[in-house]
Amino acid sequence: MRIFSGIQPTGTGELHIGNYFGAIRRWVKLQGEHETIYCIVDYHALTSEDTTADGLRKARRELALGLLACGIDPEKSILYAQSDVPEHTELCWILGCVASYGDLTRMTQFKEKAAKEEFVNGGLFYYPVLQAADILLYKAEAVPVGEDQLQHLEEARRIARRFNFRFGETFPEPEPIVGEGARIMSLADPERKMSKSAGPEHYIGILEGEEGIRRKVRSAVTDVGLTPGQAMSPGVANLFLLLELVAPPELVDAFRRDHAAGKLLYRDLKEALFTHLMATLRPIQDRYRELAARGEVEEVLAAGAARARRIAQATMAEVRERVGLD
Ligand code: TYM
Repeated sequence: MRIFSGIQPTGTGELHIGNYFGAIRRWVKLQGEHETIYCIVDYHALTSEDTTADGLRKARRELALGLLACGIDPEKSILYAQSDVPEHTELCWILGCVASYGDLTRMTQFKEKAAKEEFVNGGLFYYPVLQAADILLYKAEAVPVGEDQLQHLEEARRIARRFNFRFGETFPEPEPIVGEGARIMSLADPERKMSKSAGPEHYIGILEGEEGIRRKVRSAVTDVGLTPGQAMSPGVANLFLLLELVAPPELVDAFRRDHAAGKLLYRDLKEALFTHLMATLRPIQDRYRELAARGEVEEVLAAGAARARRIAQATMAEVRERVGLD
């Protein structure tokens, strides 16, 4: 199977544990078993009004380092930056001409972002079309993502279907791959998903120091009541979800039994989560430091782009012929 996925170089380019557990950990697992193509989607990052030229350059590099530190292996996967393969934007235009305007107005992410901004740029509206182009350019069959991307994936499938219907069978309809950890919530506000845009107290960066992580885990929102059999509040459920991702099942079970019996001390739950989370992140942080000292990121991305471009050019030759632009 050919697998494709992407991630935005926003802010400093540092990954948070939502990205890691929701997507990147699965990206790493899929390597070797399938043909894997992973893209740093810098064109998408331009839709954020906060993105500056220098910030974007740095974030792209940081994100590449972070992905390599997490275990993306350029020998097994194609890792590259979207803007190094201009075919993404060429296909984006063509797909825009089969996408439904009505569908695009119904995208939740667009509606939420547009409601917050005073000035809404056109890129934000076209964002899902570019995302569809990313995937279809490689005729990818499956896309490992967190839950927040499912609507965009559905739109990519619709776009593939419309293109095939109008111009003839060309693209497979890409299937999402989601699994455990697909929706990690903010520690400070467990009703919203973990993301960097809400501010530093809402997420844990994979490169954060021990003290910062301890403080954030300790101050994670829980609840006050401890009635036996009481339903779990979103904050506590999120801590359990994270613990499941990093700790042995027996330990999680023991904490679950304590919770059901109404005798769980959140302090203990948080301490265990901190310890096991650090055990997961420490090797990534060590590897990050090694890679940063070595400084070969640009070469890795350039080699990845050359490989990606060969596939992209073949697809575009076929697409141009299909639509009559050859
Ligand atoms: P982005 O950059 O916001 O996030 C990258 C990946 O991390 C997942 N993720 C989460 N998973 C669980 N819990 C969370 N709190 C959490 N936050 C983020 C995301 O679901 C995603 O898998 N539009 C995409 C980028 C993109 C793309 C693509 C993805 C562009 N083209 C083509 C797949 C295929 C995005 O903004 O992801």
